[in-house]
Amino acid sequence: MAGAYDVVVVGAGTGGYSAALRAAQLDRRVALIERDDRLGGTCLLRGCIPTKALLRSAEVVDTLNRAGEWGVKASGEADWSAVRAFQDRIVDKNVQGLTGLVRSRGVDVIHGTARLVAGPAVEVDGTRLEAEHIVLATGSRPRPLRGVGIGGRVLTSDEALELDRIPASVVVIGAGAVGCEFASMYRSFGADVTLLEALPRLAPLEDEDVSKALARAFRKRGITAVAGASVTAVRQTDELVEVDYEAGGEARTATAEICLVAIGREPVTDGLGLEEAGVRRTDAGTISVDERLRTTVERVWAIGDAASTPLQLAHVSFDEGYAVAERIAGLDVAPIDYALVPRVTYCTPELASVGLTEAQARQTGAAVEVSTVDLRAIGKANIVGEGGFVKVVAEAGGGRTLGVHMIGPHVTDLVAEAMLITAWEATAEDVARMHHPHPTLSEGVGEAFLKLAGKPLHVP
Ligand code: NAI
Repeated sequence: MAGAYDVVVVGAGTGGYSAALRAAQLDRRVALIERDDRLGGTCLLRGCIPTKALLRSAEVVDTLNRAGEWGVKASGEADWSAVRAFQDRIVDKNVQGLTGLVRSRGVDVIHGTARLVAGPAVEVDGTRLEAEHIVLATGSRPRPLRGVGIGGRVLTSDEALELDRIPASVVVIGAGAVGCEFASMYRSFGADVTLLEALPRLAPLEDEDVSKALARAFRKRGITAVAGASVTAVRQTDELVEVDYEAGGEARTATAEICLVAIGREPVTDGLGLEEAGVRRTDAGTISVDERLRTTVERVWAIGDAASTPLQLAHVSFDEGYAVAERIAGLDVAPIDYALVPRVTYCTPELASVGLTEAQARQTGAAVEVSTVDLRAIGKANIVGEGGFVKVVAEAGGGRTLGVHMIGPHVTDLVAEAMLITAWEATAEDVARMHHPHPTLSEGVGEAFLKLAGKPLHVP
């Protein structure tokens, strides 16, 4: 294990493994340290991948139960142990793929717990590893609700992924990405779902029109969603959990078999030796980094959910891992523009967005134009059997695109085009000249820009 490395990466989640893979590709000698038995971190083991597998099973149940709409006789019921087996298979396959890839790039994987020491160097379970550069990518964990212990009937997404049954009823606290996805998934599997959000609307970071449409869609699906709900107490008994909250000046109680706490994530930095090494943290506990992802100690970098950058998303970690590996290799890499990172939520209906919301665009003082197209105007959306909309926010008078906001079928895939349009500051005319295959859902994006350019085809 001894010997000097060019790069030692602490944590083998999306941030850490992308930094390690890219550094190895750039001919650096790399060690990747991970205390878990398996590589992959939150995304592969406890986040994006297993939850999207569950949401796919949920979608199949929904499709089967609506089969009559497409002239097919069928109905669906989830077999939870088989659903869990599918989830495990998907995770295993991805972990195996990643493990093989890391090995094939010649990265040394060291299993153990790392601590930063002067050098820069790390100590892994007592053994010192010298490195030219150290990349901290220790990730995050679910944030507990103050005064409410996790355990028994009160779960975070970590425990929910291990649950041995589909609960008959659930109270979900927090309507961000985790809360909306789990609320949606449990509802598809037949549970009674109450969703409580402290801020005045669901998915509060999204454009207001998206939040409104989501609230309508969730109501139609039978989810009881309450925004502006302030949770005051959570009690559990042998049979149930009771969540007291205040909303609209009224004290209420929601009762369910389990309660899922989904109020955000906190960085994992304990025991990392940051203070002793002189690496500063923010008040929120994340590792302070500058726009080039450098910590306060030379040649020590931080990326991913543990770093003080704005978005805790797997695809942000990939970008940060690449940026740091390339800077270490001496390449000139521009700082990441976080405003151009797409955001995706896999509830039904799906949400996806990039750039400024309408309110944010107006706050800049710029003259703004908005074009919204109902997906029901698009042939393919009617065939798929789901509505929604595409909303474009642009500078008035034919100026550049500032943001795109969508709700509806497969918008998490459609946002890739919206990201290019926004990042390349395309105007409505630029996009109107492009070609959208027919019949596809991507015509929704095309139509919104045609409308903005003053020449809509399928809408008034
Ligand atoms: P979040 O910060 O996105 O949402 C948490 C929500 O809980 C917020 O809307 C907040 O107002 C609300 N909240 C906080 N305290 C509350 C309280 N006491 N009562 C009621 N509501 C309360 O955090 P979330 O959803 O836990 O996700 C964690 C991170 O993981 C986020 O950065 C998220 O974007 C990311 N993530 C991304 C996914 C995706 O890209 N599809 C999927 C899941 C998570």
